Amino acid sequence: MSTTRKRLFIKTYGCQMNVYDSERMKDVLTPLGYESSDTPDGADLVILNTCHIREKAAEKVYSELGRLRPLKDEKAASGGMTIAVAGCVAQAEGAEIMRRAPVVDLVVGPQTYHKLPELIAQAHRAKGEALDTEFEVEDKFDKLGSDRQVEGYSAFVTVQEGCDKFCTFCVVPYTRGAEWSRPVDQIIAEIRALAAKGIREVTLLGQNVNAFHGAPPSGREADGAWGLGQLVRHVALIGGIERIRFTTSHPRDMDEDLIQAFADTPKLMPYFHLPVQSGSDTILKAMNRQHVAADYLATIARLREVRPDIAISGDMIVGFPGETDADFEATMELVRQVNYASCFSFKYSKRPGTPGAAMFNQIDEGVKSQRLAALQALLDSQQVAFNESMIGKTLPVLFEKPGRLDGQLHGRSPYLQSVHVDGPAELIGQIAEVAIETASRNALSGRLVGTKRSAA
Ligand code: SAH
Ligand code: SF4
Ligand code: F3S
Repeated sequence: MSTTRKRLFIKTYGCQMNVYDSERMKDVLTPLGYESSDTPDGADLVILNTCHIREKAAEKVYSELGRLRPLKDEKAASGGMTIAVAGCVAQAEGAEIMRRAPVVDLVVGPQTYHKLPELIAQAHRAKGEALDTEFEVEDKFDKLGSDRQVEGYSAFVTVQEGCDKFCTFCVVPYTRGAEWSRPVDQIIAEIRALAAKGIREVTLLGQNVNAFHGAPPSGREADGAWGLGQLVRHVALIGGIERIRFTTSHPRDMDEDLIQAFADTPKLMPYFHLPVQSGSDTILKAMNRQHVAADYLATIARLREVRPDIAISGDMIVGFPGETDADFEATMELVRQVNYASCFSFKYSKRPGTPGAAMFNQIDEGVKSQRLAALQALLDSQQVAFNESMIGKTLPVLFEKPGRLDGQLHGRSPYLQSVHVDGPAELIGQIAEVAIETASRNALSGRLVGTKRSAA
């Protein structure tokens, strides 16, 4: 194995699962002598870890490849630059990327990152192409191991991959394959190792994380698979882990045990992302979401009952094929009822190969834009009101790094709000109580009160 120093630049698009995968790619490449660089200029290896969820996301890949071409030409005289496309665009249209963008040396799908060293060698040998977009998710996690390099105090841990739900707008079942959960032992080993390296907060990741059903700890196969509630309670027992989150959940997979975990596990943060996409039953049906708006509202009500301080975030799509003004109004009404702390909203984007793309009653772009603007105005006002409701409260804040100004600290509230306070640098990596004094759309500020709650 060569250990000559080489520079690696990874650009990550899309969801947190891609962020996790990019970190793991770095881990796999470090023993080969690759060191991270924050610019593609002069890099020996550039990896674009791509997202296919909406049209614009996929287009970004081709424009980035255009920008990389001159850098690759410049680097030709000094060892050359290898360009790899990874992630969901690689999975969805690997062969087309190779055809459309000759600048690309290799294409690697999300399930085969452990093979990167082999693929890079292959691309170098062949002075050209290597493509691997197999679906072998079990291999991926076995071979990536649990030894991760970490920075900071918060980490993502993928516990589940893939999706079998086939919402009619969505590419994920095609790019990430069938639903699969990691065994509990493997997840716990990874989180213990993270805790030993100073991690205080973990976010359990999955495209359908609450469908988690991992093999139970060794020797207890007869107990059956573990659900997410059970996993969360177990993670809460790991020394050093103070905060737990999970994302993304589907309303259909909300079981009572998981709802109870919010009641009985204080380390599970009272901030929950539960996308609904639309408030109209007609549209929910056309989207194949397999529930009605009232089911979603009942779940939210139940969560608020067991955990009164819980705040909700979500995702919405406007302009799905066939969406009428009345359907859109039903979305606005659901938003008013839920009162989101924060919510992502998107215009429906036709994705090749999905049933939605073939529907005849597509919505005009202008109408989509109008609806999105109205929805975002409502969501923004809810977010501002939520942040302002924090003024006068005392919140535990996990401090992550120094703030922009001298003597300032930056941290996160239980609701993932940025919090700025004046305080000593030794609080970084710890949780301390902050009395909130001001709030804006994106951040809170206040002053430290009392003593610190946990040691790093
Ligand atoms: N698994 C999650 C969502 C994954 S994709 C779930 O079931 O909710 C993240 C978000 O992107 C989705 O919640 C949806 O709001 C949005 N999205 C997905 N496909 C889209 C499309 N074709 N057009 C617009 N938005 C889309
Ligand atoms: Fe996509 Fe639906 Fe699966 Fe979420 S549940 S990843 S939106 S198909
Ligand atoms: Fe995008 Fe793939 Fe994630 S399509 S949202 S990177 S699963």
